Amino acid sequence: MAESKIIAVVGATGAQGGGLVRAIAADPGSGFVARAITRDVDSDKAKALAKLGAEVVAGDVDDEASLRKAFEGAHGAYCVTFFWAHFSPEKEIAEAGAMARAAKAAGVRHAIWSTLDDTRKWVPLSDNRMPTLMGKYKVPHFDAKAEANHFFADAGVPTTFLLTAFYWDNLIHFGMGPKKGADGVLGLTMPMGDAKLPGIASEDIGGCAYGIFKGGAKNVGRTIGISGDQPTGAAMAAALTRALGREVRYNAVTPEAYRGFGFPGAEDLGNMFQFYRDFERDFCASRDPVVARALHPSLQNFEQWLAANKGRIPLD
Ligand SMILES: NC(=O)c1ccc[n+]([C@@H]2O[C@H](COP(=O)([O-])OP(=O)(O)OC[C@H]3O[C@@H](n4cnc5c(N)ncnc54)[C@H](OP(=O)(O)O)[C@@H]3O)[C@@H](O)[C@H]2O)c1
Repeated sequence: MAESKIIAVVGATGAQGGGLVRAIAADPGSGFVARAITRDVDSDKAKALAKLGAEVVAGDVDDEASLRKAFEGAHGAYCVTFFWAHFSPEKEIAEAGAMARAAKAAGVRHAIWSTLDDTRKWVPLSDNRMPTLMGKYKVPHFDAKAEANHFFADAGVPTTFLLTAFYWDNLIHFGMGPKKGADGVLGLTMPMGDAKLPGIASEDIGGCAYGIFKGGAKNVGRTIGISGDQPTGAAMAAALTRALGREVRYNAVTPEAYRGFGFPGAEDLGNMFQFYRDFERDFCASRDPVVARALHPSLQNFEQWLAANKGRIPLD
């Protein structure tokens, strides 16, 4: 019998990587096995992955030598960075470079780089419709990931560039869930106007990544965008109303207002939503749910995700 192909997974105890480890574990006999990379092999989350059958190894994206070791002998590597852990685009770029070099040194045959769009191609720094942030970005956590794409190509790593989408889990963990307004009615606040928002269950990103690894060589060198559904803010509020059995109104503020909310990252997210809104057609087209469903047949749409997760959304 052929040896199983090891997929080394960065961020394995988190959303994207965790989804990938679980997708591989749920498909025994597929010829793939997961190697979960974590900074703490003794954490409860790491132990839970070991219980699923994943090999758990130590690794830190800020320590290139540890990545080289963690990628050693792997067929595939899932590479992701953690912008919201540090808010530094430069750090993200450095971490992506370290992962690309480590993948090359370890002879990885197929990497997936979890990236996003360079919004400056649509909104150059000279375009004042949204403010330039940190001196050289429009949407720092997007632009930095796109800027790091070249490391994988430069290192000669066979790579698929995966364009991810807005997690619906943001309604649970990121403070983006419905909040009670002055009138006591729950409001879903997003500066999206009437535009559609390509979104996905974070767990399904891992499922799509698994589909990309299974597809093998034909996916190398490709950029693949995914989403599970593309509802408008109004459609999301209507679906929340039905799922929660409580009225949820769509509160379509302006991007300027959103940028001014003052929480860490509000300007970055205000620009991000404005980018989604102003370039709705391109953004939706680059993340076709049909493409994602072909990779991951059990892909959820927003209603399905809500049915399974409505009880986890914190409400006032
Ligand atoms: N939220 C969204 O809507 C959205 C949409 C698209 C893309 N993204 C992007 O997704 C990325 C984050 O991915 P995620 O949501 O899967 O992350 P996550 O759920 O926050 O998981 C982070 C995991 O990564 C590990 N980690 C953190 N720092 C690490 C380091 N220095 N070295 C190695 N591992 C480290 C941690 O594991 P250990 O503690 O076990 O080491 C943690 O469990 C961000 O860059 C964000 O921009 C987010």
